[in-house]
Formats: sequence, C-alpha cells, structure tokens
Amino acid sequence: MQLHHTVASLRAARAQAGRVALVPTMGNLHDGHIALMREAARHADTVIASIFVNRIQFGASEDFDKYPRTPTADYEKLEAAGVAHVLAPDEKEMYPQPQRYYVEPDPAHVTILEGAARPGHFRGVAIVVLKLLNIVQPEVALFGKKDYQQLMVLRNLVRELSLPVEIVAQETTRAADGLALSSRNGYLSATERLEAPRLYKALSNIAAAVRTGSRDFAALEATAIQALEQHGWRPDYVTVRRRIDLQTPATTGSEPLVALAAARLGPARLIDNIEI
Ligand code: PAJ
Repeated sequence: MQLHHTVASLRAARAQAGRVALVPTMGNLHDGHIALMREAARHADTVIASIFVNRIQFGASEDFDKYPRTPTADYEKLEAAGVAHVLAPDEKEMYPQPQRYYVEPDPAHVTILEGAARPGHFRGVAIVVLKLLNIVQPEVALFGKKDYQQLMVLRNLVRELSLPVEIVAQETTRAADGLALSSRNGYLSATERLEAPRLYKALSNIAAAVRTGSRDFAALEATAIQALEQHGWRPDYVTVRRRIDLQTPATTGSEPLVALAAARLGPARLIDNIEI
C-alpha cells in the first residue's frame, strides 16, 4: 500500500492504476468503512481510499478539533483490506488557498434533516467530494447509506454536474445489537453505549408498522420521539421520507420510503436510518 500526502504523488500513481474505485473517509476507520473498501474491490482493479477531516463541513460549534484522528491504526486496517493507495493530504494541500468557489446544492435537499441541524454542512461535503473526484478521477466512488442524506446529495451532484463517475451505495454496517457503527460512538460512556441501540429499534418499529400498512407517519414519529425522550435522548428528528429526495411522502403513495433519525445521547449526536 502506498501513502500519498500530495495530490501530485497520488495522480502519478493513479495513472498506472487501471479502473479505480475511490472511498472517501475522514479516518478513524471502523468495520463500516472497511466493508466499503472490500465492496470497492469488487468494482475496480485498484482501490484508493482518502482520509481527510474536512474542516469546512463542520459547523463552528461542532467537533472538528476533537474529531478522532488515528492515522497509524487506519493505515494498518486499509492495508489489511487490500487498499492500494491512500490519499491523506493536510489542509494546505487540499485547500492551498481559502476555498471561495463552491457548488450550491438544492436548498430543498440541504436545509432539511441534517442540513437543518448543520447549516453549510452539505455545501462543505459537496466541495470536498467534488475536489476528491477531480483529484483521483475514479470510475466508481462508494458511499455508505449510513449517511443517507449525504448519499442523496452526492448522487444529485454527480448527475447535475455530469461527473464521469458511478456512485455505489453500501448498506450500513451494525454492531450485533443493531447500533450503526460510527466514529462518534466513541464519545459514548459504557452506560450510554448500552442505551444507544434504541435509535435503531425506534426506526425498526416504524419500518415494521409502515410495511404492515400504517400510513399515519406523524403518529409513528411521535411514538418514537417519546420513547427516546423517556430514556434520556434529545431527538432532533425522527421522520419517514421519500428515498429519492427526502421530502415528506404522500400518505397515499407507494413510493420507496426511508425512516431517518438523529438524536443526542450524552455528548454524542447519533444518526441512523432504515429503508422501508
Ligand atoms: P466518514 O464519516 O468517515 O464516512 C466515510 C464513508 O463511510 C461515508 O460514505 C459513510 O457513509 C460511510 N460509513 C460510515 N459509517 C458507516 C457504516 N456503519 N456502515 C456503512 N458505511 C458507513 O462521510 C464522511 O466521512 C465525509 O462526509 C466524506 C464523504 C468523507 C466527505 O468529507
């Protein structure tokens, strides 16, 4: 495995790499990230991972400074997963001057859900992913369904900017008790970690009810929020949306749906979702 700290070095290696799959990450890798790497290998000759904690997708009061950075452990995991190249630029390499040019996602896609809680977040995600795609020029790029709204925004970015890359979506990797793996799970105390699967359970209950015919989304959402609040959570949202654009579904339609939630538990803000 080769480690590249500069764009020039990565580009020189990419020229020899054949069909490339890119997996962008912010590091502190867990089994969910590694599942993405292994899936990537099924789509290309060469897997390239990137590790870059992207300051401009974090709000001023968010956890950029304390976001866990574990490069040595990450490189070992990537090597074991068969990744050929890792791009790990510093901020000066990625943003040689302050970024002034952006792509503006559709406000309808980015002022809701995660975007409501995190203004500017998806604008920051969109620009860094666009830059990574331009730097690496992969045939395929993989993203997790764990970050469902991010995936939706990036699919639209690729389509509307006619980017020559195929987006592949990876199912969410979960712990045995259902908790979606996340770097932010590390912020939980032992007691909070035992409580954490309730978010997935609340979403599972909604999915089960909708699958068996319930269309009273508001009642299902209220029940889930109450269950979480009773156990010390502070939910931002629990909601059933259309998969395609995450807008509110008609109660009569048959379009594909997804149940999504975000809630704070102790110091951590956890997100999860289930396709229905
Ligand atoms: P990060 O949170 O490091 O996630 C990197 C990729 O791993 C994303 O596509 C995310 O959806 C996926 N992922 C995280 N947890 C997962 C899980 N439990 N199961 C499956 N996939 C999972 O998302 C980002 O970084 C950044 O926003 C990034 C796209 C790199 C842009 O900075």
